[in-house]
Amino acid sequence: MNKDKKVLLTGGAGFIGSHTIISLVEKGYTPIVVDDFRNAYPFILKHVETIIGQSIELHQVDCGDYHSMKPLFEKYSFEGVIHFAAYKAVGESVELPLKYYSNNINSLVNILQLMEEFHVNHIVFSSSCTVYGTPNSIPVTEETETQPSNSPYGETKKMGERICKDWVDSQEKKNVTLLRYFNPIGAHPSGTIGELPIGAPLNIVPYLTQSVIGKRPPLTVFGDDYETPDGSGIRDYIHVVDLANAHVQALDKMMIKEQGLKIYNVGTGTGTSVLELINSFEKVNQIKVDYKIGPRRAGDVPAIYADTTKVEKELGWKAKYSVDDCMKHAWQWEVNLKEKYSHLIDGTK
Ligand code: UFG
Repeated sequence: MNKDKKVLLTGGAGFIGSHTIISLVEKGYTPIVVDDFRNAYPFILKHVETIIGQSIELHQVDCGDYHSMKPLFEKYSFEGVIHFAAYKAVGESVELPLKYYSNNINSLVNILQLMEEFHVNHIVFSSSCTVYGTPNSIPVTEETETQPSNSPYGETKKMGERICKDWVDSQEKKNVTLLRYFNPIGAHPSGTIGELPIGAPLNIVPYLTQSVIGKRPPLTVFGDDYETPDGSGIRDYIHVVDLANAHVQALDKMMIKEQGLKIYNVGTGTGTSVLELINSFEKVNQIKVDYKIGPRRAGDVPAIYADTTKVEKELGWKAKYSVDDCMKHAWQWEVNLKEKYSHLIDGTK
């Protein structure tokens, strides 16, 4: 039913983007992928092509560059856009704030400008639960007050939301869905695509799998003295395939009905502690994790997880995969990376 509906995917070779190509094709859409591979690897798209059994239309350009992107808007009549392309390392953004403000804001503004010029009406924007800061109560709903961000990265997500809102308010017929991601983890069940962090991972799951496979020293649990049942931090871990599907359902909905700005939490609705995550990994993979308890990490929120009532009701979307599934798939991906794909990673990123 969505045949011939072309969807522009910026950052389509990245972790969430690559899984979303698959979800779009499953729903009959034709993804047109833009990625300049500054933060991603071309072989990932080859693996996606194997999964979907067809070739991907790829344009290796910077989506923040108006003159490079304009020909694509002239060539294709896009039905919608899913805008993933952005820098996402919280720590780096503190060191290099201008890199984040310039890239993350400029690319969004550029895409919206082109959408306006070429009358493309639907966009999904990648936001983050980081906009809630340290919430006063959990779970957080979309109505929970947002807080000042701890990092320039987080600020680009808050600004991105504001830019989208102002744009929708000023336009006729435009629809924006802001998806506030909780903690995306896992990998495709085939084990052929997954997360490929640049350098030493800062996020827990890629660090854990790299440490278990021998690439990194043992994992440090950042704090066991929080006011949580086992003392470690609590997050809402969402499987990347579930998250990818949420984008397609958001797009479907916008195309059916003009709705202006919509905001959804994309999580499972369940909080999982760091120690529970480690237990899950050990249980499903039958491997012991070597870890130690360390001090709290500066800037960490003690506990946050999503209230998913709105996304379930309005988009009909609900997470299907469990944390156990995530840990199984993430490990399969790490093993494949070592055993089959290590020659494809050049180490220059
Ligand atoms: N953690 C450890 N050891 C590690 C890494 C993380 O114990 O080596 C803990 C953290 O303290 C936290 C949990 O694991 O309790 C998750 O940490 P991540 O770094 O994986 O994820 P964050 O929740 O810090 O960050 C995520 C996204 C960001 C986003 C942020 C918003 O990665 O993009 O949520 O809260 F901004």
